[in-house]
Amino acid sequence: MKTPLIAPSILSANFGNLARDIEMLNTSKADWIHVDVMDGVFVPNISFGFPVIKAVKKIAEKPLDVHLMIVEPDRYIQQFKEAGAEILTVQYEACTHLHRTLQAIKAGGMKAGVALNPHTPVNLLNDIIHDIDMVLIMSVNPGFGGQKFIEHSYTKISKLKELITKAGSNTLIEVDGGVTLQNYKQLVKAGVDVLVAGNTVFASADPAITIETLKQV
Ligand code: DX5
Ligand code: ZN
Repeated sequence: MKTPLIAPSILSANFGNLARDIEMLNTSKADWIHVDVMDGVFVPNISFGFPVIKAVKKIAEKPLDVHLMIVEPDRYIQQFKEAGAEILTVQYEACTHLHRTLQAIKAGGMKAGVALNPHTPVNLLNDIIHDIDMVLIMSVNPGFGGQKFIEHSYTKISKLKELITKAGSNTLIEVDGGVTLQNYKQLVKAGVDVLVAGNTVFASADPAITIETLKQV
């Protein structure tokens, strides 16, 4: 099996000591830093915005994988670039003109991702897969860390893998929500390239060791 990339979600970090947690990620085997932006409209929670992302960027030595759970993401694409995003993922359900949004993200110099909520079928991406650098499968309903993994996500990941292979595209598959030391191997087996983990990493006794373990498939 291919070694997955690990993107710890700082939603579960200690916000009173964020610098310390970012430094831990810098010296760990983490590949990216997953940054969850919530607006209190698309999801029933508010996380943080540009000032916090900029502060993280100053310390971070790994790419920022920014996941927007916000309505009208088009309004802020350039600001996320300026704040330090390398990968910018928008929610499918928040984009009326997804093709245009993806082109704007790429024109802004970032990799473009699309996230699918648990109820959104992967085949909706059939006609746009070549324009997407990464598909994020939400394996919980977005809004909070530490939720239970939705088992149907395995089927979605397998279907998405098939869709990508058939299209001959090199789109990556990221899974986000409820990833644990019990299910990560099966997720990689189903076709996942990037594992997001919040609670599993930050609530563990030794986050750096947990990150290393998640790479062992
Ligand atoms: C959920 C966020 C996730 C979250 C994952 O809305 O998109 O990135 O931080 O947290 P865990 O890994 O704790 O389920
Ligand atoms: Zn996320």
